[in-house]
Amino acid sequence: MAHATTPSDQESATKSPPADHVPSKESQIKDFISTLPAREGWSQPLIQYKKYWFRPQMLEKILLVQDTYKPRADDIILATQPKCGTTWLKALAFTITNRSRYSFADHPLLTRHPQHVVPFIEIPSLGMDHTEVEMLPSPRLLATHMPMSMLPPGASSGGCLVVYLCRDPKDTLVSRLHYENRVVKGCNLSMDSVFSMFCEGFSPYGPFWDHCREYWEESLARPSNVLFLKYEEIMSDPVQAVRELAKFLGVPLTEEEESSGVAEEVVKLCSFETLTSLQVNQVGGVARGNKVYLDNSVFFRKGKVGDWTNHMSQEMGEKLDRIVQQKLQGCELVF
Ligand code: A3P
Repeated sequence: MAHATTPSDQESATKSPPADHVPSKESQIKDFISTLPAREGWSQPLIQYKKYWFRPQMLEKILLVQDTYKPRADDIILATQPKCGTTWLKALAFTITNRSRYSFADHPLLTRHPQHVVPFIEIPSLGMDHTEVEMLPSPRLLATHMPMSMLPPGASSGGCLVVYLCRDPKDTLVSRLHYENRVVKGCNLSMDSVFSMFCEGFSPYGPFWDHCREYWEESLARPSNVLFLKYEEIMSDPVQAVRELAKFLGVPLTEEEESSGVAEEVVKLCSFETLTSLQVNQVGGVARGNKVYLDNSVFFRKGKVGDWTNHMSQEMGEKLDRIVQQKLQGCELVF
């Protein structure tokens, strides 16, 4: 007897690909991601890949650029975990490396958001795709949130310069909580819930400590290629941080620049106060999907060291410090 087909049978019959169909790289990656562990808790479920947790869309892009991003020996890569001061580092590195091109009075950062002057390797700008960075002329100034172990081959071993910026995990977590609740429609995460997830190592791009440790160890092994910075250290002596960055990036301040106060000018232009006073960083933004809207202003909140004390108890702070210390045992990195 003939088997009656259901509408869904018919649908899948018409949709099934021809035998010689080769799925696109994107769909292969999506299929692969669907096999990985997923866990709920943050504003979106996170997927675990090689011990790190990612939003699925981000992991897709990270896996895609493993093939498409071709590191060049003169690339400069600014690496961070989100909320550790990426925007600040982008502004500083862009200003330092372009200081012979632009005057402070007529500087691109006065009209362009720091996030837009340095593209991410794995996050395409709106309307672009993941091959966008390949079109950029050398030397390229790029950014990434990828762990060191996921940087495409060549970036982690070739001549590229990598600057890693980390931050006290307590302030990073507080910053993350505010960010998620602000950019994701309907999201209302509590401090208690994100705290316990973070302490387990379950956070976007986490475990936090492993991300830091990989770059820290690389900075010890290859100090002329990897510079490890802390948000708090830049904050306590920003002029010295500018000198250090300029030297590392191969464009040290000249005596003349020292005496004319160039480092101070860089610090002032990239300061939280200056950047937040500019219209470009106050209005406008981009939608990413229908649930996420990134206001230009969302990358600036307080810009302070120690704001965690206003959002978590002393006991929580001590607990997180203990966990991070324990996880970083055997490594001289301390917060
Ligand atoms: P807070 O939420 O603690 O204020 P990222 O750029 O990695 O997303 O990090 C955002 C954090 O860096 C936010 O921290 C933001 O306020 C802070 N920030 C942004 N620009 C800064 C600047 N120019 N100086 C100091 N902190 C800055």
